[in-house]
Amino acid sequence: MYLPPQVVTNEMMSRIMDTSDEWIVPRTGIRERHFVTPGVGSAELGAEAARAALAEAGLGVDDIDFIIFATMTPDYYFPGNGGLLAERLGMKRTHALDIRMQCAGFLSGLQTADAFIRSGMYDRILLVGAEVHSALMPWPEPVWDVMLGKAPGPCDPEWYAVATGMRDRAVLFGDGGGAFVLEANESGDGRGFLSFAMYTDGKHWDKLHVPGVGSKFRPYINFEMVRRLDGIPIVEGRQVFRLAAHLMPEAVLSVLASRGKTLADLDLLLMHQANLRINEAAQKALGLPDGKVFNNIEKYGNTTAATLPMAFHEAKLAGRIKRGNLVGFTALGAGLHWGAGLVVV
Ligand code: ACO
Repeated sequence: MYLPPQVVTNEMMSRIMDTSDEWIVPRTGIRERHFVTPGVGSAELGAEAARAALAEAGLGVDDIDFIIFATMTPDYYFPGNGGLLAERLGMKRTHALDIRMQCAGFLSGLQTADAFIRSGMYDRILLVGAEVHSALMPWPEPVWDVMLGKAPGPCDPEWYAVATGMRDRAVLFGDGGGAFVLEANESGDGRGFLSFAMYTDGKHWDKLHVPGVGSKFRPYINFEMVRRLDGIPIVEGRQVFRLAAHLMPEAVLSVLASRGKTLADLDLLLMHQANLRINEAAQKALGLPDGKVFNNIEKYGNTTAATLPMAFHEAKLAGRIKRGNLVGFTALGAGLHWGAGLVVV
């Protein structure tokens, strides 16, 4: 995993909007997040995470047959980040697939990688999830400087009002990247992905979406959209909360049942990190003890496509994932897309 070095605490956020640690922590579990410096995009965070994953796997870029890059905050409208990552890593002939399924992007990437490997098409796949959500914040650099303590406050009142108007979303997200190297295992030792249960319900598309900037509009971006802040995501927080809290547990039970397994067989469940309270509700719905879940949203906020690989990496470092363990993944994101996967590590 890779995080940009700049840490932004809840108190720092409160310098430019009407919010507080006392509001944020009880409702979300988030204490701080990392934000990039200007000019650093998600392809760069993904490339750093990919380098770390390759080093840990003891592999070089020439060992990789295929790249999958999941992000909802690509460097550019197009091309996607896959080619940009290949360029950064010096991979000249590796095909790359871009996935944009928001918070469910990495989970869909795991399913896609598993299917490609099982089909025999590729033996080794580099799967990357990375996001730069700070680019969605509309305020100018002098306001960032007040937040970061590089300039004395108070914040310009007009920008304070704008930031306060989006405080429900601004405090939730962070920047970061994570990567997996996945490879074929023909040893017969039972390690690998067992199954996925994946779903999409398009009728909820508007619960999480960016209202402007797209081919539905002519031109796809205009000054009026910028003035209306149409590039900033809309989040119907309470509805998403309710949907996530029951659809993720349902998907976990469904994927376990598909392989004749139960919650008792599961060693650890890694959930998408959108809000600690969602994950606590999901844990409660499943009746899982604390020893069978792992959360790190407290330090990073919601890093969308990067949450699952970051949680996996930290859980592994903490000794919570051991060889042979049955690990579950679950996520829900804009689309709505959601699901669960099972792996023997
Ligand atoms: N600081 C202080 N006050 C705030 C903040 C803030 N950061 N955000 C909202 N408030 C205020 C609101 O203005 C409102 O005030 P009002 O009653 O005077 O109007 C009050 O707090 C309550 O606001 P709600 O939005 O109803 O607060 P809620 O308890 O629902 O919490 C939250 C909001 C944290 C966003 C929650 O709904 C949530 O986490 N939802 C799901 C997470 C989510 O959607 N994540 C984004 C997408 S991730 C993915 O794809 C799953």
